[in-house]
Amino acid sequence: MPTTQVAYRPICNIYFGVGPDRSGLMNLVPEVRNEYFPRYFFSIRQGGPGDWWQSRYWEAIAVGLAKLGADVAVTSRKLPDLEEVAKEINGLGRRSMAVATHVGRTEEINNLVPKVKDEFGRIDILVNNAGTNPTMASAIDIEERAWDAIMNLNLRGLFFLSQAVARVMKEQGGGKIINVASVAGITPDILPVYSISKAGVIMATKVMAQQWAQYNIRVNAIAPGLTKTRFSEALWGNPAIEKAVMERTPLRRVAEPDEMVGAVIFLASDASSYVTGHILVVDGGAVI
Ligand SMILES: NC(=O)c1ccc[n+]([C@@H]2O[C@H](COP(=O)([O-])OP(=O)(O)OC[C@H]3O[C@@H](n4cnc5c(N)ncnc54)[C@H](OP(=O)(O)O)[C@@H]3O)[C@@H](O)[C@H]2O)c1
Repeated sequence: MPTTQVAYRPICNIYFGVGPDRSGLMNLVPEVRNEYFPRYFFSIRQGGPGDWWQSRYWEAIAVGLAKLGADVAVTSRKLPDLEEVAKEINGLGRRSMAVATHVGRTEEINNLVPKVKDEFGRIDILVNNAGTNPTMASAIDIEERAWDAIMNLNLRGLFFLSQAVARVMKEQGGGKIINVASVAGITPDILPVYSISKAGVIMATKVMAQQWAQYNIRVNAIAPGLTKTRFSEALWGNPAIEKAVMERTPLRRVAEPDEMVGAVIFLASDASSYVTGHILVVDGGAVI
Protein backbone atom coordinates (compact mmCIF):
# COMPACT_ATOMS: atom_id res chain seq x y z
CA MET A 1 0.00 0.00 0.00
CA PRO A 2 1.44 3.40 -0.92
CA THR A 3 2.13 5.79 1.89
CA THR A 4 -0.78 8.13 2.23
CA GLN A 5 0.13 11.76 2.32
CA VAL A 6 -2.30 12.96 4.85
CA ALA A 7 -2.17 16.49 6.00
CA TYR A 8 -1.41 16.37 9.67
CA ARG A 9 -3.61 19.22 10.49
CA PRO A 10 -2.52 20.78 13.74
CA ILE A 11 -5.44 19.44 15.62
CA CYS A 12 -5.82 19.65 19.33
CA ASN A 13 -8.66 17.73 20.63
CA ILE A 14 -10.43 17.60 23.84
CA TYR A 15 -10.62 13.92 23.87
CA PHE A 16 -11.16 11.13 26.15
CA GLY A 17 -9.57 8.06 25.68
CA VAL A 18 -8.94 5.15 23.53
CA GLY A 19 -8.10 1.82 24.99
CA PRO A 20 -5.17 0.13 23.45
CA ASP A 21 -5.73 -3.42 22.37
CA ARG A 22 -9.29 -4.22 21.53
CA SER A 23 -9.93 -1.69 18.86
CA GLY A 24 -9.61 -3.14 15.41
CA LEU A 25 -8.74 0.33 14.21
CA MET A 26 -5.64 0.26 16.35
CA ASN A 27 -4.38 -2.59 14.27
CA LEU A 28 -4.63 -0.75 11.00
CA VAL A 29 -1.40 -0.37 9.13
CA PRO A 30 0.22 2.97 9.90
CA GLU A 31 -0.58 4.46 6.52
CA VAL A 32 -4.28 3.89 6.95
CA ARG A 33 -4.12 4.98 10.54
CA ASN A 34 -2.62 8.25 9.48
CA GLU A 35 -5.38 8.75 7.00
CA TYR A 36 -8.11 8.40 9.54
CA PHE A 37 -6.69 10.02 12.59
CA PRO A 38 -5.92 13.59 13.25
CA ARG A 39 -2.50 14.08 14.66
CA TYR A 40 -3.21 15.97 17.79
CA PHE A 41 -5.76 15.31 20.40
CA PHE A 42 -6.76 17.30 23.35
CA SER A 43 -8.24 14.90 25.76
CA ILE A 44 -10.43 15.49 28.68
CA ARG A 45 -10.10 12.63 31.01
CA GLN A 46 -12.52 12.19 33.80
CA GLY A 47 -11.54 9.07 35.63
CA GLY A 48 -10.52 8.34 39.17
CA PRO A 49 -7.97 6.45 41.18
CA GLY A 50 -7.90 2.69 41.64
CA ASP A 51 -7.25 -0.39 39.62
CA TRP A 52 -7.07 0.18 35.90
CA TRP A 53 -10.26 -1.65 35.09
CA GLN A 54 -12.13 0.32 37.69
CA SER A 55 -10.92 3.78 37.11
CA ARG A 56 -8.25 3.87 34.46
CA TYR A 57 -10.76 3.29 31.79
CA TRP A 58 -10.49 6.76 30.34
CA GLU A 59 -6.79 6.84 30.93
CA ALA A 60 -6.60 3.78 28.71
CA ILE A 61 -8.53 5.70 26.09
CA ALA A 62 -6.27 8.74 26.37
CA VAL A 63 -3.16 6.62 26.22
CA GLY A 64 -4.55 4.69 23.28
CA LEU A 65 -5.11 7.91 21.34
CA ALA A 66 -1.61 9.04 22.19
CA LYS A 67 -0.39 5.76 20.73
CA LEU A 68 -2.15 6.75 17.53
CA GLY A 69 -0.11 9.92 17.47
CA ALA A 70 -2.33 12.24 19.48
CA ASP A 71 -1.36 15.00 21.81
CA VAL A 72 -3.72 14.73 24.71
CA ALA A 73 -5.05 17.02 27.40
CA VAL A 74 -6.80 15.34 30.28
CA THR A 75 -9.03 16.75 32.96
CA SER A 76 -11.08 15.75 35.98
CA ARG A 77 -11.21 17.06 39.53
CA LYS A 78 -8.16 15.19 40.84
CA LEU A 79 -4.88 16.57 39.59
CA PRO A 80 -2.53 13.79 40.83
CA ASP A 81 -4.41 11.21 38.75
CA LEU A 82 -4.26 13.47 35.74
CA GLU A 83 -0.55 14.10 36.11
CA GLU A 84 0.10 10.39 36.22
CA VAL A 85 -1.69 9.90 32.90
CA ALA A 86 -0.08 12.97 31.37
CA LYS A 87 3.32 11.51 32.26
CA GLU A 88 2.42 8.26 30.58
CA ILE A 89 1.40 10.15 27.44
CA ASN A 90 4.65 12.11 27.46
CA GLY A 91 6.47 8.80 27.71
CA LEU A 92 4.91 7.91 24.36
CA GLY A 93 6.47 11.00 22.83
CA ARG A 94 3.24 12.99 22.71
CA ARG A 95 2.41 16.28 24.30
CA SER A 96 -0.03 16.25 27.19
CA MET A 97 -1.74 18.57 29.62
CA ALA A 98 -3.36 17.91 32.96
CA VAL A 99 -5.92 20.46 34.11
CA ALA A 100 -8.06 19.94 37.21
CA THR A 101 -11.63 20.95 36.42
CA HIS A 102 -15.04 20.55 37.99
CA VAL A 103 -17.15 20.23 34.87
CA GLY A 104 -20.27 21.28 36.77
CA ARG A 105 -18.80 24.73 37.39
CA THR A 106 -18.96 27.19 34.53
CA GLU A 107 -16.05 29.30 35.79
CA GLU A 108 -13.81 26.23 35.75
CA ILE A 109 -14.89 25.38 32.21
CA ASN A 110 -14.10 28.94 31.26
CA ASN A 111 -10.62 28.46 32.67
CA LEU A 112 -10.04 25.06 31.08
CA VAL A 113 -10.93 25.70 27.46
CA PRO A 114 -8.70 28.75 26.78
CA LYS A 115 -5.83 27.01 28.58
CA VAL A 116 -5.99 24.07 26.23
CA LYS A 117 -6.51 26.26 23.18
CA ASP A 118 -3.48 28.36 24.13
CA GLU A 119 -1.29 25.33 24.66
CA PHE A 120 -2.26 23.31 21.58
CA GLY A 121 -3.53 26.03 19.25
CA ARG A 122 -6.72 24.20 18.28
CA ILE A 123 -9.37 21.99 19.81
CA ASP A 124 -10.67 19.40 17.44
CA ILE A 125 -12.20 16.67 19.54
CA LEU A 126 -14.08 16.84 22.78
CA VAL A 127 -15.09 13.67 24.53
CA ASN A 128 -17.58 14.35 27.30
CA ASN A 129 -17.09 11.46 29.64
CA ALA A 130 -17.70 12.76 33.17
CA GLY A 131 -20.76 11.27 34.77
CA THR A 132 -22.11 10.69 38.21
CA ASN A 133 -24.84 8.91 40.10
CA PRO A 134 -24.54 9.37 43.86
CA THR A 135 -27.64 7.38 44.86
CA MET A 136 -29.52 4.15 44.29
CA ALA A 137 -32.79 5.72 45.49
CA SER A 138 -35.94 4.99 43.53
CA ALA A 139 -38.00 7.66 41.81
CA ILE A 140 -40.40 7.74 44.76
CA ASP A 141 -37.61 8.43 47.27
CA ILE A 142 -34.90 10.36 45.47
CA GLU A 143 -34.13 13.77 46.91
CA GLU A 144 -33.74 17.10 45.20
CA ARG A 145 -30.07 17.31 46.14
CA ALA A 146 -29.29 14.11 44.25
CA TRP A 147 -31.29 15.33 41.24
CA ASP A 148 -29.26 18.54 41.21
CA ALA A 149 -25.89 16.78 41.51
CA ILE A 150 -26.68 14.35 38.69
CA MET A 151 -28.16 16.92 36.33
CA ASN A 152 -25.46 19.49 37.08
CA LEU A 153 -22.68 17.24 35.87
CA ASN A 154 -24.28 14.79 33.45
CA LEU A 155 -26.31 17.33 31.51
CA ARG A 156 -25.60 20.96 32.40
CA GLY A 157 -21.82 20.50 32.58
CA LEU A 158 -21.78 18.48 29.38
CA PHE A 159 -23.77 21.13 27.56
CA PHE A 160 -21.77 24.15 28.67
CA LEU A 161 -18.39 22.49 28.16
CA SER A 162 -19.56 21.53 24.68
CA GLN A 163 -20.72 25.08 24.02
CA ALA A 164 -17.38 26.55 25.14
CA VAL A 165 -15.45 24.13 22.95
CA ALA A 166 -17.87 24.51 20.02
CA ARG A 167 -17.15 28.25 19.99
CA VAL A 168 -13.46 27.42 19.51
CA MET A 169 -14.30 24.82 16.86
CA LYS A 170 -16.57 27.26 15.02
CA GLU A 171 -13.73 29.78 14.91
CA GLN A 172 -11.25 27.23 13.56
CA GLY A 173 -13.62 25.71 11.01
CA GLY A 174 -14.83 22.49 12.61
CA GLY A 175 -14.42 19.70 15.12
CA LYS A 176 -15.97 16.61 16.66
CA ILE A 177 -17.78 16.15 19.93
CA ILE A 178 -18.44 12.73 21.42
CA ASN A 179 -20.78 12.42 24.37
CA VAL A 180 -20.87 9.43 26.66
CA ALA A 181 -24.59 8.69 27.12
CA SER A 182 -25.89 5.31 28.34
CA VAL A 183 -28.41 2.68 27.40
CA ALA A 184 -30.17 3.95 30.54
CA GLY A 185 -31.06 6.99 28.45
CA ILE A 186 -32.88 4.74 25.97
CA THR A 187 -34.54 2.23 28.30
CA PRO A 188 -35.01 3.29 31.92
CA ASP A 189 -33.03 1.27 34.45
CA ILE A 190 -32.99 1.22 38.24
CA LEU A 191 -31.26 4.63 38.43
CA PRO A 192 -34.16 6.99 37.73
CA VAL A 193 -32.59 10.44 37.56
CA TYR A 194 -29.44 9.08 35.95
CA SER A 195 -31.66 7.61 33.21
CA ILE A 196 -33.40 10.95 32.75
CA SER A 197 -30.03 12.75 32.56
CA LYS A 198 -28.72 10.34 29.93
CA ALA A 199 -31.92 10.71 27.88
CA GLY A 200 -31.08 14.42 28.05
CA VAL A 201 -27.55 13.70 26.81
CA ILE A 202 -29.02 11.86 23.83
CA MET A 203 -31.27 14.80 22.95
CA ALA A 204 -28.45 17.29 23.59
CA THR A 205 -26.36 15.29 21.11
CA LYS A 206 -29.07 15.58 18.46
CA VAL A 207 -29.72 19.27 19.10
CA MET A 208 -26.01 20.15 18.99
CA ALA A 209 -25.53 18.02 15.87
CA GLN A 210 -28.36 19.81 14.11
CA GLN A 211 -27.40 23.33 15.14
CA TRP A 212 -23.62 23.07 14.82
CA ALA A 213 -23.37 21.16 11.53
CA GLN A 214 -23.26 24.58 9.84
CA TYR A 215 -19.92 25.12 11.61
CA ASN A 216 -18.59 21.75 10.44
CA ILE A 217 -18.90 20.35 13.97
CA ARG A 218 -20.08 16.74 14.15
CA VAL A 219 -21.71 15.67 17.40
CA ASN A 220 -22.33 12.02 18.23
CA ALA A 221 -22.69 9.87 21.33
CA ILE A 222 -21.92 6.39 22.50
CA ALA A 223 -24.47 4.64 24.69
CA PRO A 224 -22.63 1.99 26.70
CA GLY A 225 -24.33 -0.89 28.44
CA LEU A 226 -23.22 -2.09 31.87
CA THR A 227 -19.43 -1.88 32.01
CA LYS A 228 -17.03 -3.02 34.72
CA THR A 229 -15.92 0.25 36.25
CA ARG A 230 -15.82 1.60 39.77
CA PHE A 231 -18.80 3.80 38.94
CA SER A 232 -21.07 0.84 38.23
CA GLU A 233 -19.74 -1.60 40.82
CA ALA A 234 -22.98 -1.30 42.81
CA LEU A 235 -24.70 -2.83 39.77
CA TRP A 236 -22.35 -5.48 38.37
CA GLY A 237 -21.14 -6.32 41.91
CA ASN A 238 -24.70 -7.22 42.92
CA PRO A 239 -25.39 -10.81 41.81
CA ALA A 240 -29.14 -10.27 41.39
CA ILE A 241 -28.69 -7.20 39.22
CA GLU A 242 -25.86 -8.79 37.25
CA LYS A 243 -28.04 -11.84 36.58
CA ALA A 244 -30.90 -9.65 35.35
CA VAL A 245 -28.53 -7.79 33.02
CA MET A 246 -27.10 -11.07 31.72
CA GLU A 247 -30.56 -12.38 30.97
CA ARG A 248 -31.40 -9.45 28.73
CA THR A 249 -27.95 -9.22 27.09
CA PRO A 250 -27.50 -11.53 24.08
CA LEU A 251 -23.69 -11.50 24.48
CA ARG A 252 -24.23 -12.72 28.06
CA ARG A 253 -21.58 -10.65 29.78
CA VAL A 254 -20.81 -7.23 31.20
CA ALA A 255 -18.54 -5.04 29.03
CA GLU A 256 -14.91 -4.36 29.82
CA PRO A 257 -14.04 -0.64 29.73
CA ASP A 258 -11.77 -0.89 26.72
CA GLU A 259 -14.62 -2.28 24.65
CA MET A 260 -15.94 1.29 24.35
CA VAL A 261 -12.75 2.46 22.74
CA GLY A 262 -13.35 1.43 19.13
CA ALA A 263 -16.68 3.27 19.04
CA VAL A 264 -15.06 6.44 20.34
CA ILE A 265 -12.22 6.20 17.84
CA PHE A 266 -14.68 5.76 15.00
CA LEU A 267 -16.61 8.87 15.99
CA ALA A 268 -13.43 10.85 16.65
CA SER A 269 -11.92 10.03 13.29
CA ASP A 270 -12.66 10.93 9.71
CA ALA A 271 -13.88 7.36 9.25
CA SER A 272 -17.22 8.76 10.45
CA SER A 273 -17.09 11.91 8.31
CA TYR A 274 -20.77 11.68 7.25
CA VAL A 275 -22.10 10.70 10.68
CA THR A 276 -23.64 13.25 13.01
CA GLY A 277 -26.40 13.15 15.60
CA HIS A 278 -25.90 9.41 15.93
CA ILE A 279 -26.17 7.40 19.15
CA LEU A 280 -23.85 4.40 18.85
CA VAL A 281 -25.10 1.73 21.25
CA VAL A 282 -22.36 -0.50 22.68
CA ASP A 283 -24.25 -2.88 24.94
CA GLY A 284 -23.85 -6.50 23.87
CA GLY A 285 -27.30 -6.32 22.28
CA ALA A 286 -29.24 -5.52 25.47
CA VAL A 287 -31.55 -2.95 23.88
CA ILE A 288 -32.31 -4.93 20.72
N1 LIG B 1 -19.80 1.96 33.88
C1 LIG B 1 -20.95 1.78 33.24
O1 LIG B 1 -21.59 0.72 33.36
C2 LIG B 1 -21.48 2.86 32.35
C3 LIG B 1 -22.53 2.54 31.49
C4 LIG B 1 -23.03 3.53 30.67
C5 LIG B 1 -22.50 4.78 30.69
N2 LIG B 1 -21.47 5.08 31.54
C6 LIG B 1 -20.95 6.44 31.53
O2 LIG B 1 -19.57 6.40 31.26
C7 LIG B 1 -18.95 7.57 31.81
C8 LIG B 1 -17.73 7.17 32.61
O3 LIG B 1 -18.15 6.40 33.68
P1 LIG B 1 -17.21 5.28 34.35
O4 LIG B 1 -18.05 4.07 34.44
O5 LIG B 1 -15.89 5.21 33.70
O6 LIG B 1 -17.11 5.84 35.80
P2 LIG B 1 -15.94 6.57 36.58
O7 LIG B 1 -14.69 5.79 36.53
O8 LIG B 1 -16.52 6.90 37.91
O9 LIG B 1 -15.74 7.89 35.72
C9 LIG B 1 -16.50 9.03 35.93
C10 LIG B 1 -15.53 10.09 36.28
O10 LIG B 1 -16.20 11.35 36.22
C11 LIG B 1 -15.37 12.22 36.93
N3 LIG B 1 -16.13 13.26 37.53
C12 LIG B 1 -17.08 13.14 38.46
N4 LIG B 1 -17.54 14.33 38.79
C13 LIG B 1 -16.85 15.23 38.04
C14 LIG B 1 -16.88 16.63 37.93
N5 LIG B 1 -17.74 17.34 38.65
N6 LIG B 1 -16.02 17.24 37.09
C15 LIG B 1 -15.15 16.52 36.37
N7 LIG B 1 -15.08 15.19 36.42
C16 LIG B 1 -15.93 14.55 37.25
C17 LIG B 1 -14.74 11.46 38.07
O11 LIG B 1 -13.37 11.82 38.17
P3 LIG B 1 -12.88 12.76 39.37
O12 LIG B 1 -13.45 12.15 40.59
O13 LIG B 1 -11.39 12.72 39.31
O14 LIG B 1 -13.42 14.13 39.10
C18 LIG B 1 -14.98 10.02 37.72
O15 LIG B 1 -13.80 9.29 37.79
C19 LIG B 1 -20.04 8.27 32.62
O16 LIG B 1 -20.60 9.32 31.88
C20 LIG B 1 -21.07 7.19 32.83
O17 LIG B 1 -22.37 7.71 33.03
C21 LIG B 1 -20.94 4.15 32.36
